[in-house]
Amino acid sequence: MGMPGRENILVVDDEIELREAIAAYLNQEEGYEVQQASSGEEGLESLKKNVFDILITDMKLPGLDGNAVLQQALAIYPEIIGIIITGYGTVESAVQAMKSGAYDYIAKPFQLIEISLLIKQALERRRLKEENAYLKTQLKEKYRFESIIGNSQPMQDIFQLVETIAVTNSTVLVTGETGTGKELIAKAIHFNSQRKDQKIVSINCGAIPETLLESELFGHVKGAFTGAHHTRIGKFEQAHRGSIFLDEIGNMSPSLQVKLLRVLQEREFERVGGTEPVKVDVRIIAATSANLKDMVERNEFRSDLYYRLNVIPIHLPSLKDRREDIPLLTKHFIKKYCQNSNLELKTMSQDAMKLLMNYNWPGNIRQLENAIERAVALVGTRNLMLSSDLPSEIQKTNANLFLSEIYIPDEGVNFKIEISHVEKELILQSLKKSGGNKKQAAKLLNLKRTTLIEKLKRLNLLDQLNVD
Ligand SMILES: Nc1ncnc2c1ncn2[C@@H]1O[C@H](COP(=O)(O)OP(=O)(O)OP(=O)(O)O)[C@@H](O)[C@H]1O
Ligand SMILES: [Mg+2]
Repeated sequence: MGMPGRENILVVDDEIELREAIAAYLNQEEGYEVQQASSGEEGLESLKKNVFDILITDMKLPGLDGNAVLQQALAIYPEIIGIIITGYGTVESAVQAMKSGAYDYIAKPFQLIEISLLIKQALERRRLKEENAYLKTQLKEKYRFESIIGNSQPMQDIFQLVETIAVTNSTVLVTGETGTGKELIAKAIHFNSQRKDQKIVSINCGAIPETLLESELFGHVKGAFTGAHHTRIGKFEQAHRGSIFLDEIGNMSPSLQVKLLRVLQEREFERVGGTEPVKVDVRIIAATSANLKDMVERNEFRSDLYYRLNVIPIHLPSLKDRREDIPLLTKHFIKKYCQNSNLELKTMSQDAMKLLMNYNWPGNIRQLENAIERAVALVGTRNLMLSSDLPSEIQKTNANLFLSEIYIPDEGVNFKIEISHVEKELILQSLKKSGGNKKQAAKLLNLKRTTLIEKLKRLNLLDQLNVD
């Protein structure tokens, strides 16, 4: 793995010789960025103007003492690593400083390498802490199969496939319309692989301008362009030993496509402005809502890159093509949002459920999730969520006719009521088509006119309708 980003260090000491020796050593031998201050006050000025990872300060200073500088530094950067230099007679106050947040102290006289080792140890500890926190939040959440919902055959097949291929190192291309769960599946692959204890680093190739994207992906060396004050590693290096998720891969420019192809073939690249090849061990998972194959045919996407990416294709079906998953997903999201808001578990009314089952879902699962979140927020103290709690575009769905899948909830249905819904809907639609003419409507339904009128009466439709 390449060099980590260069940390910034501030050295505060009124003794010029010691201060400069420390600064020179840390900069020249260890490659850190080092700034110096000759007093506590000067140090504070610096702290306000620049971002620092590490503060090394003498305890005894003419004005503000080392502890005061550290306290103010911690107020600005809670994560700053504070190292206090103590001389004869200040050890006790150094112990005090540690109690109030210093990482450690070092007693004069010391060798420069000692301070350098202390820094490395502190940085390593910080890295582990960050990594742990990161992994905890990522793992706790989801990406375990239990929280990816789908009983339909296509989803079951996908889960099976994910389980099988997760453990390999093969490149995966996840495709599907917006909101079908591409990112969720990408993360499930990572967290079910042997790389699960390492990071999955995500980048959206569609959201970043081309020039920036290159340095985001591959990093840059100091001075590579105006503003490149430090060498910085990119996402590929950050993902070393883990996985990288390249989202919206179809938006990558032709020149970056070439560079990515090289990473796929050789697992190496150069940082922007750099000359040395950097080698990484990274599992690549790409996703797109565009049709890459079409793009290849139109010469908008390199075919060699396409085939390198498409080693394992996973296509997520649109929600309207697996409507049988809608009830389960709905339940899942109701539970999620009721728990989020500390509400008693709500249920979806039959009418509302039918709307959900028949709607076209251009925004797929994300849209369903948003609709449920909204309905949970609107339902108030009621326990039953009604059609009127759903967004208006969903309310406009024709709920009863031509149900592609009839949904039977666990608690069962009332057969007679359901049938009467269907009857009512058939009658209303035929009347609509006949412009309200009962004779024609009856003909459309292959019923006698009198039978139709009887049904209209029984269903209480006569009063509601303006029919002749
Ligand atoms: N099978 C599923 N079970 C539960 N939740 C899901 C499922 N699929 C998707 N989701 C949820 O739906 C939302 C959208 O999923 P995701 O971000 O993975 O979609 P996407 O395909 O990456 O969309 P886009 O193309 O717009 O980026 C997320 O909140 C995700 O947790
Ligand atoms: Mg996405």
